[in-house]
Amino acid sequence: MGVNNHLTWHDSVVTKELRHQRNQHKSAVLFFTGLSGSGKSTIANLVSIKLHELCVQSYVLDGDNIRQRLNRDLGFQESDRKENIRRIGEVSKLFVDSGQFAITAFISPYQCDRKLVRDLFPSGEFVEIYVKCPIDECELRDPKGLYKKAHNGEIQNFTGVSSPYEEPINSEIVIESNHETPEACANKVISYLAQQELLP
Ligand code: PPS
Repeated sequence: MGVNNHLTWHDSVVTKELRHQRNQHKSAVLFFTGLSGSGKSTIANLVSIKLHELCVQSYVLDGDNIRQRLNRDLGFQESDRKENIRRIGEVSKLFVDSGQFAITAFISPYQCDRKLVRDLFPSGEFVEIYVKCPIDECELRDPKGLYKKAHNGEIQNFTGVSSPYEEPINSEIVIESNHETPEACANKVISYLAQQELLP
């Protein structure tokens, strides 16, 4: 509950079900989680291209972008990461209510926060995708040079170095991004969505 108790919830007049009928597809959140450099953003964006080609509406919410605008007040200590993911859960819910696929690419290192987001959605509307990649490989890739900075002490609380990553235990999809190409990883996600009858 928020601090203001004198609020009324207004349901959408155009319901999610009506939007699904109009769009001719369902909606869900595709919740990517994984270490920095694991390939979350690359795969999430490939999935969004594939959905677009299938005439399915989606939008990618990416940690790096969201943290520069909507969540620019948040840092990387535990309480801020929790608030980051809580807000992303709520934004994703709005996207799903609007009939679109919300594709989120956040490290989301804590199991309890991933569960908090999962619990916002009815069964089948939350698809957790663990982009599994050994930290040694992420450090080798180091696309933004952040691991190097974390080891030098230039960045504090860096996930996998000086801040924890709790490995997911109940993801709908596990992608081993060090064994498969980004294209194959994205196809795996699309196949899962088709199997679940979420696509047209
Ligand atoms: S979290 O843990 O879910 O709140 O993080 P997220 O919002 O996904 O932001 C991760 C991106 O922020 C950059 N960055 C850091 N990541 C981890 N730890 C620290 N301390 C940090 N500082 C900056 C980094 O570019 C992450 O992007 P990805 O795409 O994961 O590499």
